[in-house]
This record gives sequence, structure tokens and C-alpha cells, in this order.
Amino acid sequence: MLHLLAVSGSLRAGSSNAALLDAACRLAPAGIGIEIYPDLGRLPHFNPDLEPEPPPIVAELRARIGRADGLLVSCPEYARGIPGSFKNMLDWLVGSTTFPDKPVALFNASPRASEAQAALRLVLETMSARLVDAASISVDLLSRKMDAAAIATDAATAAIIVHALQRFADAIRCHDMP
Ligand SMILES: Cc1cc2nc3c(=O)[nH]c(=O)nc-3n(C[C@H](O)[C@H](O)[C@H](O)COP(=O)(O)O)c2cc1C
Repeated sequence: MLHLLAVSGSLRAGSSNAALLDAACRLAPAGIGIEIYPDLGRLPHFNPDLEPEPPPIVAELRARIGRADGLLVSCPEYARGIPGSFKNMLDWLVGSTTFPDKPVALFNASPRASEAQAALRLVLETMSARLVDAASISVDLLSRKMDAAAIATDAATAAIIVHALQRFADAIRCHDMP
């Protein structure tokens, strides 16, 4: 069983990025389990002085990352960049031993958000994540106002998500083979 950790970069209750990840949970093929990270908005501001003994919620985040076979990220664009709360989480992971070489699939709920996607790639590559392009998708939810149930039952969108999850699982399994 592959275990994926999904993180939305939006704290908004009606977030399209969160809905996309929620739909991925509902659509996960057999053999793939997806857990949604719930604490992005509760993480303290990153401070390198706290690194030697990180707050418990940060230690717990790092442990969750360590247990995950891969990360699913869906993050909006704010002011042509990465939202502060999501970048804050990434900053806490820069010094983490559990993050380097972690497979990451980038989901994107808004195709026009190209600058945040480019920035995310640059930051994640700098942190030695293993970006899996074959599992990274862009679907236009911005104008469609779909919740997770609607996304999961829209045949075309569901097919794109399922295909991405299968490609992600393949990439993880291939890399893990001796
Ligand atoms: C403060 C703020 C700044 C934004 N800046 C941009 C931007 O620079 N480029 C863009 O394409 N969309 C921008 N947007 C639109 C969001 O990316 C878009 O509404 C997205 O769907 C929000 O994701 P969510 O539905 O998961 O909350 C901005 C939205 C907010 C609230």
C-alpha cells in the first residue's frame, strides 16, 4: 500500500485546491492511500533559531513527511507567487532530514497560475524534492466552482486525476525497486 500525504496551499474553506485533493482521496485507485495534511494554518512562523528543538507541530509535520511515500501538492497563486502559509511550511522542511528525495506531484487547480507553479518547482528542486512530471496536472477549477464530489463525478476531470495518481504510484514504485 502506497501512502501519500496531500497538502493544499490554500486555507480557504471553499478552496478549489483543497477540493482537488479531496477528490483525489475519493478517486484513489486500490493500493494508494491519501491522507490530507490538516495543520498548514497552525504552523508557527519559521524561525531558524527554533530549528534545534522544533515546536511539536513541526516535528509532527516532519514525521508525517517521513512516513509518506510521496507528497501531493495543490497550491494557488497569490500575487504571482507562492502563498505565505505554504512557503512557511516549506521553510520548516528545508532543514528536515525527511524531505530530500521525497517524490512530489504538483496538482494545479488554475492553469493561469503559471508563476506560482514555476516558483514552486524552483523551491522544491532547491530542497531536493523529486518532482514527478508525469503525475503533475493542471485542471481548470477556477471558473467552474466544483466541490470535491462534483470533481470526482466529472468523468473527464476524474480520469485526469486517476491517471496522475497511477503515474505517481508507478514512479514511486519504480524508483524504490532495488
Ligand atoms: C490575495 C490573492 C492574490 C491572488 N493573486 C493571484 C495571482 O497573482 N495570479 C493568479 O492567477 N491568481 C491570483 N489569485 C487568485 C487565486 O489564485 C485563485 O482564486 C485560486 O483559485 C485560489 O485558490 P483556492 O480556491 O484554493 O483558495 C489571487 C487570490 C488572492 C486571494
